[in-house]
Amino acid sequence: MEVILDFLAGIQWWLWVLIFLFLVALRDIFFQKSHTISHNYPVVGHLRYWLESIGPEMRQYFVANNREELPFNRIERGWIYASAKKENNYEGFGTDRDIYSHQHIFIKNALMGYQIAENHPNKENPYFLPCAKVIGAYNKRRKPYRPSSVINISAMSFGSLSAAAVEAMNKGVEKCHAYHNTGEGGLSPYHKQGGDVVFHFGTGYFGVRSKNGNFSMEKMKILVDENPCIKAIEIKLSQGAKPGKGGVLPGAKITPEIAEIRGVEVGKDVLSPATHKAFSSIPELLNLIEDIAEQTGLPVGIKAAIGKLNQWEDLADLMKTTGKGPDFITIDGGEGGTGAAPPSFADHVSLPWVYGFASIYKLFKDRNLTERIVFIGSGKLGFPAKAAMAFAMGVDCINVAREAMMSIGCIQAQVCHTNRCPAGVATQSKWLQNGIDVPLKSDRLAQYFKTFRKEFLEITHASGYEHPCQFKMSDIQVNVDDDYLSADLEKVYGYKKSKVPFDSMQKLIDCEYLGGKMAIEAS
Ligand SMILES: Cc1cc2nc3c(=O)[nH]c(=O)nc-3n(C[C@H](O)[C@H](O)[C@H](O)COP(=O)(O)O)c2cc1C
Repeated sequence: MEVILDFLAGIQWWLWVLIFLFLVALRDIFFQKSHTISHNYPVVGHLRYWLESIGPEMRQYFVANNREELPFNRIERGWIYASAKKENNYEGFGTDRDIYSHQHIFIKNALMGYQIAENHPNKENPYFLPCAKVIGAYNKRRKPYRPSSVINISAMSFGSLSAAAVEAMNKGVEKCHAYHNTGEGGLSPYHKQGGDVVFHFGTGYFGVRSKNGNFSMEKMKILVDENPCIKAIEIKLSQGAKPGKGGVLPGAKITPEIAEIRGVEVGKDVLSPATHKAFSSIPELLNLIEDIAEQTGLPVGIKAAIGKLNQWEDLADLMKTTGKGPDFITIDGGEGGTGAAPPSFADHVSLPWVYGFASIYKLFKDRNLTERIVFIGSGKLGFPAKAAMAFAMGVDCINVAREAMMSIGCIQAQVCHTNRCPAGVATQSKWLQNGIDVPLKSDRLAQYFKTFRKEFLEITHASGYEHPCQFKMSDIQVNVDDDYLSADLEKVYGYKKSKVPFDSMQKLIDCEYLGGKMAIEAS
C-alpha cells in the first residue's frame, strides 16, 4: 500500500492534469451520448457549453450598450437602482436616445408649468401622489378604496418570489403607502407586514380553494374578515406573459408552509388549469364579481392581457344594461413578466400594452363606461415618462412587478424559472434568500416608489397640470412611420380620453377612503 501511495505522490502535478483530461476525453468519446460536440471534439468541446452558460453575464457586463438589452436596458435598470438607493439618478451631457426613432414618446411641456402654492400638499410632501379615482365608488361597495399611491406592486406570488422578497416588498409598500398585490399563490404571512393588500386569485384559487379545487366563497369571506389589510380583490383572467396557459406546481415544491397558504396538500402535484371553473361565460363572471363584492364588501376587479375583443364587448354591453361590473380593470401588456412561461407564449400571445389598452379603453369609452372603472396598467410602465403616456391614454394607476424586483436587488439574470435567482428574489433557496436584508430592501422599494412619484409629479407640473390624471391624449406625441413623422396619441390610437373628475390634491388627502397609513411624510 505504502509503495502505491509513494508512487502516486511522486507523480508530477502536470501529469495529474493530463490524466484528468485523458479521462474526460474517454468519457466524452465512449460513455456519453447526449452531446455531439463533446464527442466530436473531446475536452475542448466543453468550452463551448461553459462559454455559452456565462454568455449572458459577459454580454450584460462588457458587450451590450446602454440601451440595447431587453426586457430592461442598463439605463433603465440603473435609474431604478439609483432611485431606490436615493443616489444621483440623473444623466449628464444630454440624452443618449435617438429621439427620432420609431415609437419615441414626447411629452408636451407647457410654456409656464404648474405653480405649487405655498400651502399645497406637494410643497410639504413632494412624494404625495394618490389615485384620482376611488375604487368601488361607482358600484357603491361597502368598503371603497382610494390607493394612496399611483404606483403599486403587481401580482407576484409567494412561491414565484422568496419569502424575504415578499416581506421586503410588503414592508416597503407600508413605508410609502402603496398596495401590494398577492399574485396567485394566496395570502402568505409575508404579505401581512403592514402594507395594503390586493388579494389576487387565478384558476388555481389558491388561498380560497375548496377541496375539489374550485372557488370557495366561504374561504374568501373568512380570509377577508380575518385580514383587514385586504383592500380589494382581483380575479385573474390572464397575464401578458402567458395568457391562457395553465400550470402545474410540482408536489416536490409543496412544502407544509406553501400547502397551508395555498390550501393544497403537501407533496401532491397541483394543477392550475388554463381556464376558470367558477365561471364559463361573461354573465357568470359578472355574477361572481357581484357575489364577491356583496359578500366581502370589497371592490372587485379583473386582470387580463388583451387579444380578441368580442368577449370584452359582451362584458361592456352587459355592464351597460345591468348597471353592474368590475370596479377596476388591470390591463397587462404582452411584454409583461412571469416566473416561468414558454417563449412561444411570452413572445407572441397577446398584444403589447399600448395596443391592448387603447382597444379596451376605446371600447368602454364608446359606451360611456370609463367613469365607472378604475383602469390599472402594467407592462414596463414603472418609469415616469412611460407612466405619463399611460395616464394620457386613460390609466388611473400603474402596477409594477419586475421594476419592484429590481428595486430590492434583482439583477435581471432571467433565471426565475430555475430556482437559482442569484439575488435571492425569485427563489425558494434559503441560502440565496438569506442575502436579502429585509429592512434595507424595504427602504429601497419605498424609496423607488417615492422617487418615481416625485419625478412623475415634476413632469406633470412641467406639462401645466396638478395631477397626472389631467394628462390628455393630445399631450403626448409619438414617432410614427407613416405620412406624419410624429403624431398625438389621439390620432395614433383614435380616441379621446374621458375627463377624470379631479378637484385638488387637498381633496384627495381629505378623502375618507384614502389607503395606506397616510400621515404626510416629510421625507
Ligand atoms: C416573478 C413574477 C411572478 C408573476 N406572477 C404573477 C401572478 O401570479 N399573477 C399575475 O397575474 N401576474 C403575474 N406576474 C405578472 C406581473 O404581475 C405583471 O403583470 C407583469 O410582469 C408586467 O409588469 P412589469 O412589466 O412591471 O413586470 C408575475 C411576474 C413576475 C415577474
